[in-house]
Amino acid sequence: MDQVLQNKPIGIFDSGIGGLTVAHAIQQKLPAEQLIYFGDTAHLPYGDKSEAAIQAYSIKIADVLLAHQCKVIVIACNSASSAAYELLKAYVGSKAYVIDVINPMVQLVGQSFSNKKVGLIGTKRTVQSGVYASKLAALPQPIVVSQLATPLLVHMIEEGFFNNRISHDIIAQYLNDESLQNIEALILACTHFPLIKEEIKAFYHNRVAVLDSAEEVAISLEMYLKQNNLLSERNSKPQHTFLVSDFTASFEASTKLFFGEIVKLNKHPLWE
Ligand code: DGL
Repeated sequence: MDQVLQNKPIGIFDSGIGGLTVAHAIQQKLPAEQLIYFGDTAHLPYGDKSEAAIQAYSIKIADVLLAHQCKVIVIACNSASSAAYELLKAYVGSKAYVIDVINPMVQLVGQSFSNKKVGLIGTKRTVQSGVYASKLAALPQPIVVSQLATPLLVHMIEEGFFNNRISHDIIAQYLNDESLQNIEALILACTHFPLIKEEIKAFYHNRVAVLDSAEEVAISLEMYLKQNNLLSERNSKPQHTFLVSDFTASFEASTKLFFGEIVKLNKHPLWE
């Protein structure tokens, strides 16, 4: 039976399980919404892939989420947001609303950090795309952002190295880079980085505002659903679905770190 439009799920995707930090923020803010999550673990990391490859992956994943009748598709990955947001919006058309992780952050930075020195860390793809830099430069009060690609951090987190001596040293090495000196705010332009947010704040002795987009994305999703009368009308707790294109027990075990609880990952045969 077709469900009413309001009760259709929210689709969320990432290259892997880092996007679960965004899914978690959405679940906290909008507990009545049903989530369909897709982690493209077969292609992780996206940060080292070409724009064309990420665009092709994103289109196929959008097809999966549309087949689940998602009313909204959240691109919970900065690399995919920088490579495929415009394309995906055009591709999906009126079938679903598309939200990325970059625009809500640009809005926040524009509101709260104009005239401040702002830094950014993210994957090579996100930094090389220049999407944050051009969107921040296009604000009514333009902001210049100092960007640094920190590719090791995704691998470090994926391997479970955080809150320890190794992560402390790698984070310090990156943040001591000349490009990030004297900043007043740091954008965490990767959905893996909320896991090292406290370490980064400690590095700066809380003197730098450390910004991740999970909460901002949830706020902007809530605003869209409210304005369009699309908030779920469900009274009972929704059943979420978590799909991955490649299953390993270690991905499943890591979901606890990113989502706050272990979730069951189901292998999806998208690339078979
Ligand atoms: N979660 C992705 C992002 O936000 C990074 C991981 C990857 O490189 O696939 O950019």
